Formats: sequence, C-alpha cells, structure tokens
Amino acid sequence: MAASKNSAAAKGTSTLTILALLLAAFASLFYYLEQHLESFYVFEPEHLHDLSQRAIAAHGNDTRAVVSYIVSELDEKVGGKYLNFDEEWVFNNAGGAMGAMYIIHASITEYLIIFGTSIGTEGHTGRHTADDYFHILQGTQLAYTPGSYEPEVYPQGSVHHLHRGDVKQYKMDSSCFALEYARGWIPPMLGFGYADTFTSTLDFPTLWATTRITGREMIGNLLQGKI
Ligand SMILES: *[C@@H]1O[C@H](CO)[C@@H](O)[C@H](O)[C@H]1NC(C)=O
Repeated sequence: MAASKNSAAAKGTSTLTILALLLAAFASLFYYLEQHLESFYVFEPEHLHDLSQRAIAAHGNDTRAVVSYIVSELDEKVGGKYLNFDEEWVFNNAGGAMGAMYIIHASITEYLIIFGTSIGTEGHTGRHTADDYFHILQGTQLAYTPGSYEPEVYPQGSVHHLHRGDVKQYKMDSSCFALEYARGWIPPMLGFGYADTFTSTLDFPTLWATTRITGREMIGNLLQGKI
C-alpha cells in the first residue's frame, strides 16, 4: 500500500518535471523567435507605403486597378510564391465593424490584405500582438483615442500605423479601402477576427471560407519555410 502510494507520488512528480521542462522549452523558443521576428518578414512598410502612393498616382480612384498594380509589383519584388493572386473576397466582422477582405498573404508573422467597404463602417481596432499598417487606397479613415478631443484623419495615400498593443476606435464614413499589413504574431489575432461570428453574425459559410483561405496560405507558406 505504502509502496504504491510512493510510486504514484513519484509519477506525479515526474509528470510535473516533464511539464516544467516543456514549458521552459516553449518559453525559450518563443523568446528566441520574438528576438528574431524581423528576420521572418518578407514585406517592408516603407515599400508598401511608396507602392500604394504610386498605385494611386497611376490609377486614382479606380481601386480595382490600384489593387492589381500593387499585387503585380509585389509579384516582382517579393516573389509570387508568397502571394495569393485569386481575389477571394470574404466578409469580415470584427470589433463591431464590417467590411470585406482579399487575403494577399498570410503567414505566422505577417498578413497582407485589401480591406474595406463601399458603404462605411465603424468599430474597435482590437488589441493586437502585431503592428498594423493601414495604407488608405481610397476614401478616408478616422481614428479616436481616449483623452483626445480631435479625430485622427487618414486620407487617401496616408498610412495609419496602429502600434502593437494599442487600441483605437476607427471609422470609415463612406467608401474606403486599404492595403492592410500586419507584422508580429498573427495567430493570436485570429480570435478577434472570429469572435463576432460567434456572438453576432453566425455566418458560418464566411467563417469557413476565411479559415480555409487563411489556413491554406499559412500552411503553404510554412511548407516553403516562411514562418
Ligand atoms: C478620389 O475621389 C475623391 C472624392 O471624389 C477625391 O477627393 C480624390 O481627389 C480622388 N483621388 C484621386 C487620386 O483622384
């Protein structure tokens, strides 16, 4: 009796040891990746800003042409193997705002999408584990931070950089489309991207399409060594 109690206790201790070791290994891996995040990126915010401005200069408010201009230059500069050329538009409800998106790239550390709506929307940005660069291709985006009495105004051609961890209220009064680039840890952001489906829209076909496209792109990129 006493012997079996002892061995049960020993088993408990060894399980705890294994868990502690796993946790330590996971924490060091995370720490290592966090320190080297920069080396996984294939997009550059300065290039995306310059590219957006040149695309607008070339095509004005013909946003469909602006988007093709952007995607074809990325194909040359970044390499087509990281990009999704099918404009698979899906609705996105998050933070109370609604729009649609075309996922150009999705991996563990970056995503690049066209996000917008032709009728305007408003909501919470979400508090993210990535830096977010919102390049306005058409229309104007407004943002508000508590403590301020004036709106931040982001017109066509400008970039709204939402720093990792920051939150704002944002609004697009009417038609507005942007090239949105996020870099940091992308998987934790998906919870925010999905929450409104479960608490509000119950739009499962959209949920499935979003998951299928995001998963396909993330896994496809991982298989080519792009974290
Ligand atoms: C796009 O349309 C808006 C509203 O009509 C206008 O203010 C803006 O100058 C146009 N942009 C370009 C690049 O033509």
